[in-house]
Amino acid sequence: MTKVLVATDKPFSPKAVEGIRKIVEAAGFELALLEKYTDVNDFYNAVKDVDALIVRSDKVTKEVIAHAEKLKIVVRAGAGFDNLDLAACSERGIVAMNTPGQNSNAVAELALGFMIYMARTCFTPATGSELIGKRLGIHAYGNVGRLVAQKAKAMGMEIMAFDPFVPAEAMAKEGVIVAKSVEDLYANSDYVSLHIPANNETKKSINYALLSKMPKGGCLVNTARKEVIDEEDMLKLLQDRADFKYITDIAADNNADLMAFAPRYFATPKKMGAQTSEANLNAGLAAANQIIDYIKNGITKFQVNK
Ligand code: 3PG
Repeated sequence: MTKVLVATDKPFSPKAVEGIRKIVEAAGFELALLEKYTDVNDFYNAVKDVDALIVRSDKVTKEVIAHAEKLKIVVRAGAGFDNLDLAACSERGIVAMNTPGQNSNAVAELALGFMIYMARTCFTPATGSELIGKRLGIHAYGNVGRLVAQKAKAMGMEIMAFDPFVPAEAMAKEGVIVAKSVEDLYANSDYVSLHIPANNETKKSINYALLSKMPKGGCLVNTARKEVIDEEDMLKLLQDRADFKYITDIAADNNADLMAFAPRYFATPKKMGAQTSEANLNAGLAAANQIIDYIKNGITKFQVNK
């Protein structure tokens, strides 16, 4: 029988797991679960006899692939697929997919919440500021960036965006000021919300030179990936500029050093952008459906290793 494994270090909500089970079993497949594992060997053992795999940020390395002798498809239930070794998948003819847009609203709402948290002095009684009339720079106008823009606009913020992959006219049509360059975006935004993926081009690209362009009181909001930040540069900037703020749900590797700058630096204890029951359900069910569509009908619509 075709076997589907859900391997999630950070489990889906029970409702999402139940929904995935229904879809998988209705297709005549078997579902296996590996949740909150702490030993990678448990992951290696669990993939041994599976045909399909659903993960979240769990790292699907070449070692995992090597242990998964029958694997045909892996779906990252979420947007960013930097946790999948695409080359190892392709080498074995394994289809790799993501579920774009399914958890975007959860991440966008968190980005908004982060801005309010920083504007209101980390919910302390100190005098804060308001978001109305402030300029928000959206760095990458994809599914999440676009939702952040819409929500921030409703709060009276002015929106600027930079995304070389989205036509300027499309952004302008949505009432967004199109930045001429990434430097233009940072130099002219009170807040910048990051929505770029982590890849060879973007890793450590958010550095001192770029961040130091932000106006006085500037605040960076990162619900994307920690790898895109140059962490040493971030430390230096927080040291050099007493007005600069950084908030994230993906704590830097040098989190302990950055914590010295609280409340101008804040990181949640765990990655939580997509951790809502709605996002779990949307992304989990989409992943299950995409697996059935692929195994039964060969549909590769969301394949990322083409
Ligand atoms: C994504 O890329 O979809 C988000 O970062 C969510 O990641 P998570 O599934 O680990 O919460």
